[in-house]
Amino acid sequence: MKIISAPDYQSMSRKAANIISAQVILFPHSVLGLATGSTPLGVYSQLAEWYKKGDIDFSKVHTVNLDEYCGLAPDHEQSYRYYMNTNFFQHVNIPLENTNVPNGLAKDIEAECKRYDHVINSLGGIDLQLLGIGHTGHIGFNEPDSDFDKTTHSVRLTQKTIDANSRFFEKPEDVPHYAITMGIKAIMQAKKILLIANGESKADILYRSLFGPITPEVPASILQLHNDLTVVADEAALKMIR
Ligand code: F6R
Repeated sequence: MKIISAPDYQSMSRKAANIISAQVILFPHSVLGLATGSTPLGVYSQLAEWYKKGDIDFSKVHTVNLDEYCGLAPDHEQSYRYYMNTNFFQHVNIPLENTNVPNGLAKDIEAECKRYDHVINSLGGIDLQLLGIGHTGHIGFNEPDSDFDKTTHSVRLTQKTIDANSRFFEKPEDVPHYAITMGIKAIMQAKKILLIANGESKADILYRSLFGPITPEVPASILQLHNDLTVVADEAALKMIR
């Protein structure tokens, strides 16, 4: 595991964007696993800036996103498809048909989960997976549980996650209670993992995930077993580590 410390959010974002940029420059056909939430916003805008300068070409890249809320249409402002289109895809030259987000409106959720695993497998797996971390230790929406959930599945979000995500919705009751998430297996099979975290509120869970016992009660703790994990975090999030 490599831990890279950054003085602040902007610097964390730039360092993480540099790693993704190097991946795409070296391997233009890369499959990128992508995350949503507040943490990666700076990474996406940095990548878009470098694309505009002509430094990166995303035309051959494929992407698979970690998760999507159940019940939200792709054009719903809080859906993760909408987030990805507006914060990243529309600002670079990735063909939209190369981008994948679970379908939150699928009638048959189980079939949608199978379809999503098939998409990941047919792309040959993920070359570089970008991850944020939730306050519960979730990665994607793999919430604390008694088992590590392996494949794409639907999940009932914990109250802590619903509360944390309510900041994006008009009313707390608008936050969906269910989501579809990629499983731990696809995440752990990614050739490289890049975990980003910022802010003091992530310090405790980051420490427990990287140095605590490996347990499904802290889903991100499984990352300790990955052989190519890079953590880029600001000093506030790393305050219990160094
Ligand atoms: C989002 C995702 C989540 C977030 C996590 C942290 O696609 O998979 O695991 O990475 O909830 O969210 P932020 O970055 O908003 O703190």
